[in-house]
Amino acid sequence: MVDDDAQMRRAVVRIIETHGLASLEASSGVEALAILDREGEVALCISDIYMPEMDGLTFLREALARYPDMAVVMLTGVADVTTAVECLKIGALDYIAKPVIVEEVRARVDKALEKRELVLQNRFYQKHLESRVRELDRRNRQALVNGVQTLVHALEAKDAYTSGHSARVSRYAVKTAVQLGYTGERLEQIRLGGELHDIGKIGTREDILNKPGLLSPEEFEHVKGHAALGERILAPFLGESPMVLRIVRSHHERLDGRGFPDALSGDRIPAEARIVAVVDAFDAMTTNRAYRPPKSPMDSLEELRRCAGTHFDPEVVEAFLRAFADVSALPIST
Ligand SMILES: [Fe+2]
Repeated sequence: MVDDDAQMRRAVVRIIETHGLASLEASSGVEALAILDREGEVALCISDIYMPEMDGLTFLREALARYPDMAVVMLTGVADVTTAVECLKIGALDYIAKPVIVEEVRARVDKALEKRELVLQNRFYQKHLESRVRELDRRNRQALVNGVQTLVHALEAKDAYTSGHSARVSRYAVKTAVQLGYTGERLEQIRLGGELHDIGKIGTREDILNKPGLLSPEEFEHVKGHAALGERILAPFLGESPMVLRIVRSHHERLDGRGFPDALSGDRIPAEARIVAVVDAFDAMTTNRAYRPPKSPMDSLEELRRCAGTHFDPEVVEAFLRAFADVSALPIST
């Protein structure tokens, strides 16, 4: 209870205490702030408006700046209604008109405390709800990642030559995407897209996957089906991750329009698929395949440069070269 008029202060304190509430008294705003600093936040503060040293408005502002959850009720003379309204705008919950009436003080005090309780409860539930939603989201993602790992392992068990390929492509793609300014959720989708880009090969015949030597035109057509098939397999699970689906479908498109499955060219190829196209090719070149031995990282980088502008997006090739400037660290291990 803050009032320079000792008689008024005592009167209000008596009403509050006989209402079953403990109280502290201050004869000025400055003293009240000092008490708050010492005792910590109180649930409710009743303050007079006209006081020497620091008026009620200034006290209200200062007190709410330090203790935004404190309920403040102003004490006001009949002539001060405009000032009282000003106080409500600043954040006071209510005002009590002088001369005070016992029942009115009690009713206003109860109402102000109820309001404060409600605000605090709301905040608690909101915070609790947010963290619960976050937790569910995290679990969903973990379940998705586990499912993805299972699919990748199923593919790698079938095709020995892609063992580790998905994980490496994912790592290459993420580092390259960082160079291109990808962050947060978009980067996360690149990571997942890299892991899953070849998942459609689950539907490719094993004798073709592991065939040494060149494929016949029919066999090559069969292999090409893995891009669109991968998208079809994942679409029911990854409806909320369209970038991942675009990577899976379009990672064999070429800048000059001679890729598959849609023969897209230039900017019509999704940007994220252009990233995976480059790093996928690099990893394929630098690892052992059924049909040929690996190329050196240096020769593979040269090949990327040579094909920039026809097969590959030159900006992505540049970003890849920047991301892996230290050639001695290539190829990366999984
Ligand atoms: Fe592929």
